[in-house]
Amino acid sequence: MDDHKPPEIASGIYWVGVVDWNLRDFHGYETPKGGSYNAYLIVDEKITLIDTVKAPFAAEMLRRISQIVDPAKIDYVISNHVEMDHSGSISAIMDIAPNAKLFASSKGKAGLLEYYKEEGFDKWDLQVVETGTELKIGKRTLMFIEATMLHWPDSMQTYLKEDRILFSNDAFGQHIATSKRFDDEVEDVMEDAGIYYANILLPFGSQVLKYVGKLKELDVSPAMIAPAHGVIWRKDVQRIVEAYARWARGDTVPKVLVIYDTMWGSTEKMAMQIVEGARTSGVEVRLRHLRKNDWSMTMKELMDASVVAIGSPTMNNDMFFTISGFLTYMKGLRPKGKKYFLFGSYGWGGGAVRAMEKEMESGKFELAMESMQVKFRPYEEDKKACRNIGYKLGEIAKGNAKS
Ligand code: FEO
Repeated sequence: MDDHKPPEIASGIYWVGVVDWNLRDFHGYETPKGGSYNAYLIVDEKITLIDTVKAPFAAEMLRRISQIVDPAKIDYVISNHVEMDHSGSISAIMDIAPNAKLFASSKGKAGLLEYYKEEGFDKWDLQVVETGTELKIGKRTLMFIEATMLHWPDSMQTYLKEDRILFSNDAFGQHIATSKRFDDEVEDVMEDAGIYYANILLPFGSQVLKYVGKLKELDVSPAMIAPAHGVIWRKDVQRIVEAYARWARGDTVPKVLVIYDTMWGSTEKMAMQIVEGARTSGVEVRLRHLRKNDWSMTMKELMDASVVAIGSPTMNNDMFFTISGFLTYMKGLRPKGKKYFLFGSYGWGGGAVRAMEKEMESGKFELAMESMQVKFRPYEEDKKACRNIGYKLGEIAKGNAKS
């Protein structure tokens, strides 16, 4: 008897994923708390595996499955999403269970055939399913839900009707490494889900809202949401769905976020004075130095801010490299409903503020007021001007907040 069986999340349903304790960078997104790739095994008349794990962890997943059933006996493999953190070990499974049937969305099938052509995916029985398609696996029924852009065009989810478990793949995930499997067993899960949303799903707000509507249309009211990353929602199921709707709408609160970098402290002094002025207006204020804070959390802070001030020193007649990197990152994530203010410092000819303005214009970001720059360092009158600007930004933040 094996005393170390994988967690049984409901009767006959097992978590067979892996925890990536040392993950600190997930395709460029910082993950200071690590991560997990969740796969689930349903033991019914048809042994069904929902998603797999990143390729280097295939053996660990197979070991977990072996503690429950012989992996050669797997009948069905559901591939909810082509991205390699979930599909990376499908070929390891198919090598052991070559007669297993694969299920994916039509874009999922196309993606799997394209990405894994060298692994010979075309030789496997790969069936396309769509929203509303049902699959009997014995006593239980799976229903598929296409979840376009949550997080790729192919993304799909699987709903286990009798147990009311939604296997949501990327949606509702969090990047945390933990030995716990449920939301009521860990701290800060809503915040971690927010960081995940801000960095992974933020550009897809309209698709997220459509998807939330689709769950209602299909009468899907899960008792449990089992994502492919992080812990399973069983306590805050409704709360996380509501949070997704709120984040997707781009709701903001009266909050000024100041983001900056600095070379000799001049831009930092300006940032501190802006914070001071904004504070006196009574709104929430946050400050993030780009080289001292992770960008993932900075994006989470930005998600509900109604005003964002961004400051950069001038380096080689341009903005500082961290600022230009962050603006590129932010532009891709397309945050909604904010007004921006730009500030900076220079020694000779300047250039940072001009370069930031150009970048903001190309991203169609709305500026709250005229930018400010100082030469060499902010003197007393400049500091006072920064405090006044901070106060005005606080007032603008109150008027621009929307929920
Ligand atoms: Fe967790 Fe879009 O992959």
